Amino acid sequence: MTETILLVGGGGREHAIARALAPDVNLYACASNRNPGIARLADGFESLSETDPEAIVAYAEEVGATVAVVGPEAPLAAGVADALDEAGIYAFGPHAEEARIETDKAFQRRFMRDAGIPGCPDFETFDDDEEACAFIDDYDGDLVVKPAGLTGGKGVVVMGDQVDAEGAKEYIRENDYDRIVLEERLIGEEFTVQAFVANGEFRATPAVQDHKRAYEGDEGPNTGGMGSYSDATWALPFMTEGDYDAALDILDATVSALDGYKGILYGQFMLTTEGPKVIEFNARFGDPEAMNTLPVLETKFVDILTAARDGEDLPELAFAAQATVCKYAVPDGYPENPTAGTKVEVDEESAGDALLYYASVDERDDGIYTTTSRSFALVGVADTIAEAEEIAEDALAVAGEDGLHIRHDIGKADLVQRRIDHMEELRR
Ligand code: AMP
Ligand code: GLY
Repeated sequence: MTETILLVGGGGREHAIARALAPDVNLYACASNRNPGIARLADGFESLSETDPEAIVAYAEEVGATVAVVGPEAPLAAGVADALDEAGIYAFGPHAEEARIETDKAFQRRFMRDAGIPGCPDFETFDDDEEACAFIDDYDGDLVVKPAGLTGGKGVVVMGDQVDAEGAKEYIRENDYDRIVLEERLIGEEFTVQAFVANGEFRATPAVQDHKRAYEGDEGPNTGGMGSYSDATWALPFMTEGDYDAALDILDATVSALDGYKGILYGQFMLTTEGPKVIEFNARFGDPEAMNTLPVLETKFVDILTAARDGEDLPELAFAAQATVCKYAVPDGYPENPTAGTKVEVDEESAGDALLYYASVDERDDGIYTTTSRSFALVGVADTIAEAEEIAEDALAVAGEDGLHIRHDIGKADLVQRRIDHMEELRR
């Protein structure tokens, strides 16, 4: 039987999910924005609010969905997976309660501490701004300030990097968040490992490194992620296989402690001199990281979904031994003062050997235009990171730079080498 899948979400991550599913299923999609790449792959595309569980269930029933895949965190937090499951449509994505591992950073840290999960930094949670400020005064070392709720990856402030102690206190007092977490600043290199989780088991995917800072050389404000790379092996050039395995041990302990979790568990790690520590968990694929992982996944995505739904063992995953480099084109001025309305000059054909994934764009009669969020990504897949990077750059050259900003340094030999040198220096 051909499965009918409903995909929720309209970003670059969901375009990657759609491309991984489309050849094998009847695909329907719904999202707040109309993603032209997903719309072309799907048999139907509905524009609706991604945080409206009733509207999503109604569309799932209308198209006869046999499984749903929820891409972004906002619908998970809004109870979309709960509502789909209740309507008898298996949702690959955690219920709102389980998604708190991402949506409530205070819960996430307490959960790690209570369950004895390795890799948890020292932390305290606060609902009073002045108590948090007093803690900063008394603490010997740099702290990280994290609003407990969702901030689209832009609410975290790191002492000793973006601010000093006075700046951290000012940030807390100015923003008046309900609850904040203060935690030990971890030093090292960041990496992501995403895993498919269902029926108490998980299947991990290769490590990816994202680039959160807006400008080249890791300068500027934090963004949703400007681009990412993965190697032809499970680990990244600055890691050992043992570092990757230590991250898997953390995911293993987490999945064991999470009762009934299903969907993607995304671990963001800091590789420190003491091994990997958890920066955060997400309850979904990363965006951009999904665009590194899914193009090299050789196992059929739909087979993972049906095994999850039917209570079977998840299939062992096979990946092509290829490196990937993903670079986002974002509107000029992103994230602080983005200018929308630039015509996108590259399409799936002119991208050549690169894969093009649309994110927040607006399709009009005469073409596709940028909005104020990340616009589109180009992904190279090749034997080495260097070759994959060139493939992505060739396609970016077709897109041009007018009205767009791109971090060209992502995946280039210089920056990869800096990561290796950084870890070597810390380990010395
Ligand atoms: P998040 O929104 O949790 O992904 O955090 C955004 C960024 O803040 C991360 O990508 C890290 O670069 C940084 N960060 C978060 N937590 C820590 C920590 N405990 N130590 C050092 N950097 C951190
Ligand atoms: N790339 C970071 C995230 O998806 O949260």
